[in-house]
Amino acid sequence: MCNSKMLDGKIALVSGCNRGIGRAILETFLNNGAIVYAIVRTKGSLNDFVSNANCKPVYMDVTDTASVKSLFMQVKKEQGRLDVLVNNAGMMRDALIGMISREHIEQTYAVNVFAVIDMIQYASKFFKRQQSGSIINLASIMGVQGNAGQLLYSSTKGAVVALTKSAAKELAPCGTRVNAIAPGAIDTDMLRSIGDANVNKLLQNVYVGRLGLPADVAKTALYLASDLSEYVTGQVIGVDGAMIV
Ligand SMILES: NC(=O)c1ccc[n+]([C@@H]2O[C@H](COP(=O)([O-])OP(=O)(O)OC[C@H]3O[C@@H](n4cnc5c(N)ncnc54)[C@H](OP(=O)(O)O)[C@@H]3O)[C@@H](O)[C@H]2O)c1
Repeated sequence: MCNSKMLDGKIALVSGCNRGIGRAILETFLNNGAIVYAIVRTKGSLNDFVSNANCKPVYMDVTDTASVKSLFMQVKKEQGRLDVLVNNAGMMRDALIGMISREHIEQTYAVNVFAVIDMIQYASKFFKRQQSGSIINLASIMGVQGNAGQLLYSSTKGAVVALTKSAAKELAPCGTRVNAIAPGAIDTDMLRSIGDANVNKLLQNVYVGRLGLPADVAKTALYLASDLSEYVTGQVIGVDGAMIV
């Protein structure tokens, strides 16, 4: 099927849009006709998009529950509906077992899990009323396979996998689909934070022979946001170039 505007008229909300995978999803959704509420933390980080009236920057931290509530009130007031939620914002700071501080655990869960649950709860109010909607959560191959040195990060992404499957079952009768994308090694700041030597080690286990690009993930998000995936829910879709962990 060839349709250059797969998201024409859809209202989407995407977190972590200033860089990496979130930025690629923002660009892809805008190119496909969506109006996108783009969550970023820093003013000015979406200046490239000022001329695009369909890009609506929202400056907030996803762990700030008051901001999350007022964001959904803003979308309701301005659009009266919401079609797609992408929970992309995430953090990864690795530490070996014995070196993981309580503060570190709380910060990582606040961004990677608690904020995702908050967003799903608010978005599902729209989706239940409309009897339609698509939620896309960014999990990780590490949340499915686990990895040495990544107990904390992998556990948050494992939680994203489980909450995706539970939400899919609960919201299916309301016409709402909930899926997760589990990227492998995607060339972003997050991946580069582990150092070039470690990135090269990971690359040796990617059978496709290259790192993933943010656009590779964005194309899968486009499919899940669009009506092409109307019978797809509760799935965890790997975008990993046949990576072995
Ligand atoms: N890259 C990979 O290989 C890979 C693999 C598997 C899964 N993932 C997942 O894919 C998603 C995107 O990853 P990425 O590689 O694009 O990461 P990235 O380059 O590190 O970007 C992370 C994004 O999340 C935002 N963010 C973090 N904490 C936030 C908060 N409290 N409130 C609002 N925004 C916040 C960041 O904003 P700031 O710029 O303000 O920090 C940034 O826009 C994440 O959930 C990640 O876990 C990535």
